[in-house]
Amino acid sequence: MAYKDVYESWKTDPESFWMQAAEAIDWDEKPSRALFDDKAPFYEWYSDGKVNGCYNAVDRHVAAGRGDQVAIIHDSPITDSITKITYAELKDHVASLAGALRAKGVEKGDRVIIYMPMVPEALEAMLACARIGAIHSVVFGGFAAHELAVRIDDAKPKCIIAASCGLEPGRVVHYKPLLDGAVDQAKHKPDFCVIFQREQETATLTEGRDVDWHEFQNGTEPADCVPVEGNHPAYILYTSGTTGAPKGVVRATGGHLVALHWSMKNIYNVDPGDVFWAASDVGWVVGHSYICYAPLVHGNTTIVFEGKPVGTPDAGTFWRVIEQHKVKSFFTAPTAFRAVKREDPRGEYLKKYDLSGLKAIYLAGERADPDTIEWTQKMTGKPVYDHWWQTETGWTIAGMPAGIEALPVKIGSPTVAMPGYDIQILDDAGHPVAPGTLGAIAIKLPLPPGTLPTLWNAEDRFRKSYLDHFPGYYETGDAGMVDEDGYVWIMARTDDVINVAGHRLSTGGMEEVLASHPDVAECAVIGVSDELKGQLPVGFVCLTKGVDRPHDEITAECVKLVRDQIGPVAAFKLAVVVDRLPKTRSGKILRATMVKIADSQDFKMPATIDDPAILDEIRDALQTLGLAK
Ligand code: COA
Ligand code: AMP
Repeated sequence: MAYKDVYESWKTDPESFWMQAAEAIDWDEKPSRALFDDKAPFYEWYSDGKVNGCYNAVDRHVAAGRGDQVAIIHDSPITDSITKITYAELKDHVASLAGALRAKGVEKGDRVIIYMPMVPEALEAMLACARIGAIHSVVFGGFAAHELAVRIDDAKPKCIIAASCGLEPGRVVHYKPLLDGAVDQAKHKPDFCVIFQREQETATLTEGRDVDWHEFQNGTEPADCVPVEGNHPAYILYTSGTTGAPKGVVRATGGHLVALHWSMKNIYNVDPGDVFWAASDVGWVVGHSYICYAPLVHGNTTIVFEGKPVGTPDAGTFWRVIEQHKVKSFFTAPTAFRAVKREDPRGEYLKKYDLSGLKAIYLAGERADPDTIEWTQKMTGKPVYDHWWQTETGWTIAGMPAGIEALPVKIGSPTVAMPGYDIQILDDAGHPVAPGTLGAIAIKLPLPPGTLPTLWNAEDRFRKSYLDHFPGYYETGDAGMVDEDGYVWIMARTDDVINVAGHRLSTGGMEEVLASHPDVAECAVIGVSDELKGQLPVGFVCLTKGVDRPHDEITAECVKLVRDQIGPVAAFKLAVVVDRLPKTRSGKILRATMVKIADSQDFKMPATIDDPAILDEIRDALQTLGLAK
């Protein structure tokens, strides 16, 4: 079948389409139907089925006689080590950890926070939770203690599983003090913490609270898989919204297994047994879906890569891993290739490796700029497919259905809507616009299996953030268009979310941190274009009357404050003091105009601006930072 036929078959009869896709999953009790719309607009999938995510990701491959196949390859150029774990070994590890968690009181529905770097034990912790029906919430290692504390208070975990340290090039990330700081700051206290001690650093355990990863598994019974309802939350993953309070995206078990399995062949074009690599981090949605669950549920070998595209040790790392482990399908963020291209523009490193086993490269997480796509295509000689999705959806909204049909690539477009997604471009009044016209990108409800049914403990916020603006639709927060051929084009965010090196960050969250500085009366954070990271945050602060300290001192404190409160991942290094912020007459800060000035783009003077002269002051301030040329 061609893509068009597959998409039409979904559109004509979505129920049959998703019931058929569900056949690929081993259910303890088959669901009677796919869509449950009785609580619309809170849609659910496969709710009356019973299933276990860990069984589908691990045990069933062992039961099918594939226990000796490698499930996980941990490739760590940072520690110069490669470890392989078979499906049979993975089953033993996960059953043992799950048994130990249960012995300490973790039951179905309890939350477990996982704060770990790129080690296979992070996947084992996720799968151990899934095995006993506990709901995991992985927190990215680049977040500071405060961000972890916010997540502890929202998810209220019974247990936190953390590693002793993470390893960034030239720097050990000491997880234990961050964990301790977060538990101190949080109102909710976990019953216990499990600490995975890495060779590179042994953390001192807190008596009465911490248990050692290995010791606490000694003498406990391995746990069997607990069947859960199709709509049982598999995990909560926090993502940035407009304010500093992150949104707890809920992923329901049944739909996530079905959709991820479907995506592996139809989008990533791999067969069971093939090696699949997503170079991201378990702390992000790409890591949840395509380092952990999808490749394992589909019976692939997944790579857990602890390194960077450059500097670990050089710009040839990606190509070395692809050759050495025979990667068939590779997925990363465009920023990673921008980093490689900057170091190795002529592809000298690439020439040293045999990439003949690699079939295609997939990009997502941020806009894929044409230069980067073309360079990657030219250097590797492989198809490069951009695809567009979000933490909320968990899998591709628009992409290349390479396993169905390789459609022509239009550089700059992530290609076409996947089955399950009825993408509409809406004007301000919520009416669909003609092809080729810009507007807000919305998806007609219901969203397909695998997407968020709601936000954790925040139904109202879910409605307000995604459903209220365009009744009957899910609002993506992205703007763009669909052309005459049905290709989707993503142009910008419609909110204050920015994208830094493929990481989604809230400028509102950074503003809240800056506003807490005692000398700051008012502030604004904008995202400016950056050649390497796509966007970078820049902060403008207006000082409280009477403050008479060197501006450099204050901005350095602001930079430190954001690093301490949000974390190094915010990459907040540029801040400047200004007398005033440009505003409309009703007091709204003109952030979009400030971005245009910073990016040296033409802009139209906003008709509602209060005092146009302030824009010159903003330009001068930006020039001191090397922007607004
Ligand atoms: N734990 C602790 N700190 C982390 C971290 C982690 N897991 N990941 C990143 N950081 C730190 C970095 O060390 C850096 O700190 P620094 O300010 O002390 O240098 C900071 O957070 C910013 O990190 P990042 O934006 O990722 O930049 P980088 O300098 O580490 O390198 C590139 C990033 C440019 C190499 C980029 O191309 C890249 O590969 N980014 C990751 C892409 C990605 O996986 N995106 C996820 C969506 S698919
Ligand atoms: P995250 O939830 O962190 O995955 O970020 C999702 C957001 O990243 C989307 O809403 C887009 O703004 C942006 N994004 C992701 N993939 C793409 C893409 N292929 N092209 C353009 N923007 C993208």
